[in-house]
Amino acid sequence: MADAILTDEINSMDIDARVESILSQMTLEEKAGQLNSVDASSPDPSGRLADDIRAGRVGAVLNQVELPEICKLQYLALEESRLGVPLLFSRDVIHGFNTVFPLPLGQAASWNPGLVREAARIAAAEAAATGVRWTFAPMVDISRDPRWGRIAESLGEDPHLASVLGAAMVEGFQGEELSAPGSIAACVKHFAGYGASEGGRDYAATSIPDNEMRNVYLPPFKAALKAGAATFMTSFGDIDGVPATGNDYLINGVLRGEMGFDGLMISDWDSIGQLIVHGFCENPEEAARIAAQAGVDMDMMSSAFVDHLPALVRQGLVSEALLDEMARRVLTLKFALGVIDDPYADIHRGGAPAPADALSLAHKAAVESLVLLKNEGGVLPLDFSEIDNLAVIGPLADQPVEQMGTWVFDGRAERSITPLSAVRSALGDQAQLHFAPGLTHSRDNSQTGFADAAAAARASDAVILCLGEEAILSGEAHCRADITLPGAQLDLAKTIRAAGKPVIAVILAGRPLALTHIEPYFDALIYAWHPGNMGGPAIADVISGAANPSGKLPVSFPKSVGQIPIHYNRKNSGRPAEPDKVIAIEDVPVGAPQTSLGMSSFHLDDGYEPFYPFGFGLSYSKFAYGHIQISAQSIAPGEPLELAIDITNSGDRDGVEIVQLYIRDRAASLTRPVRELKAFQRVELPAGESRTVRFVLTDADLAFSRRDKSFGAEPGGFDVWIGGDSQADAHAAFELCARSAAG
Ligand code: GLC
Repeated sequence: MADAILTDEINSMDIDARVESILSQMTLEEKAGQLNSVDASSPDPSGRLADDIRAGRVGAVLNQVELPEICKLQYLALEESRLGVPLLFSRDVIHGFNTVFPLPLGQAASWNPGLVREAARIAAAEAAATGVRWTFAPMVDISRDPRWGRIAESLGEDPHLASVLGAAMVEGFQGEELSAPGSIAACVKHFAGYGASEGGRDYAATSIPDNEMRNVYLPPFKAALKAGAATFMTSFGDIDGVPATGNDYLINGVLRGEMGFDGLMISDWDSIGQLIVHGFCENPEEAARIAAQAGVDMDMMSSAFVDHLPALVRQGLVSEALLDEMARRVLTLKFALGVIDDPYADIHRGGAPAPADALSLAHKAAVESLVLLKNEGGVLPLDFSEIDNLAVIGPLADQPVEQMGTWVFDGRAERSITPLSAVRSALGDQAQLHFAPGLTHSRDNSQTGFADAAAAARASDAVILCLGEEAILSGEAHCRADITLPGAQLDLAKTIRAAGKPVIAVILAGRPLALTHIEPYFDALIYAWHPGNMGGPAIADVISGAANPSGKLPVSFPKSVGQIPIHYNRKNSGRPAEPDKVIAIEDVPVGAPQTSLGMSSFHLDDGYEPFYPFGFGLSYSKFAYGHIQISAQSIAPGEPLELAIDITNSGDRDGVEIVQLYIRDRAASLTRPVRELKAFQRVELPAGESRTVRFVLTDADLAFSRRDKSFGAEPGGFDVWIGGDSQADAHAAFELCARSAAG
């Protein structure tokens, strides 16, 4: 029977005092036990997990989401361990729990922080109802490499967009009060720079200069921290020779010292044990010591902390004060979540009812995640009332699991509505639907299904061609060196094109794909990412015009894998490419002598522009931008610069435009990107109407981490552009003065 730790006296104290009271009763082994996070997804026939819980060797459990099982494990901790400290239950709730929303990369294409926040709120409520109180999200790794499978769970390539949306996810998961029903602790990951994994291969080393780390990879972590994130997770990565999980400079120095984070840092799965594999530590004892001293508080699945920290303290190699600090963070989180005061909260609440608006919000999120990339001759929207025969073709047309995407443990196929189902419902009996998958799955190289697919196309007035990747071709550890559509999908597209009917392609994938060679076979192209349970209705709504697409790319699309890394916020170099300085490979004379004069930074075969730029996305409306009105030619630090621009919807449909503002710092103590997103607004504009959109900039928006590691703006000249993507051409210029006019 556990000694009562929740005496009336303790309950009357504030959290810090209550933590100290529990800590003072703990042995070294019990303190180390709080630092141990173990997986409970597999059966426990040996009873090892139960024994460890009874022995006080477990502080948190991941991947158990069955309420009865959670109750059993919690009972063991409360009633059969010496001190009865409750367990904390965690899960990767990445883009939904029972209700699956679009991939985070797809949600990022909505550029809608309110929507992203709401999706996280619903996911949190559904997870908390099962007893899960901690998610390992948001993942805010800046991702510039589509070969990397985890780009699917990222918020794209831009620090500002990832900062805004990552903060919104934290707010959605954690709500106003961590201990409230439906709130779960967020865990910002993977600290840091994981997206720079060499070659786009997961878990590979990264080489990130400190200026790049501070100006590209860290800003979304800062934003998530500012939003109140309760926990962080280390990356698997080796950062310039020092693995993140043992990186004292990054965790204690930057995150805790400079950024002021005093919450719980958990390792990634066995990433403490992997310090040995990295060649950074000799043995588990050293790995435990180095990770603890680097600032890691909890050990996911390596057991190094629980196995070795008590002895390391007794040997004087790790201070007991440090062990106390680590255990204190775990207990403080448990108190903040209300887990200690009410470990069975979710039972009393009877499992908070699933939010009624879950699927309708998933539908809205899916609609806003879709990006219209091509609409030749206005083939879209398709007026279903004028269609007698419509073909739905392709290996992703009717795949309820694939459309949910990666990182879906708790979603269910029966909650998905596929594109085929949704189009069939939208058509009703007014038209004949002809379905042919053409291929059994995205990697299928057999053309045996082509004849049926071609026949379906020939029999129809138009074709909806659903192509892409199975969910398993992206996500953790699933990286691709060739980012074209897999299998025989290009051949299928050629076959369907040959039928001579309008081809509306919908691509469902977990990454940007290289579309250069297949795009010519499409009249229209909608990028759907993996859109979640309600992907089908969303796709049908956009194709039929029931919804007007507003999505914008959160990541650049390369022409080929050879262009990677390619991102809009590149450095200018001393010989930047410009249209008149690019030579196509076919224009290089045979036998041409070596020359570099007048040349610039591009590939002979692919030039220097992406296939689709960051921020790009079409609409059924037509948005025209006026000139930028700027309130001053120069500002002093602290002074606002007001910018305004008129936008006109000259189309015949009401629409939403995501108006984007980019700057360029022309000269600074560090070279700065040729463009940097600094603000954006979702503007609803009725057909035929104009609107003046206003932005305000101050020197705070121009700040960056400088060579001396200070953070601030530097005086000098700036460019500013406003438009509908990162190649916006409405331009103005201004100066930031060294000091205010008052001197
Ligand atoms: C995985 C992932 C991490 C996840 C954790 C728990 O390996 O890297 O993002 O949260 O393990 O599933």
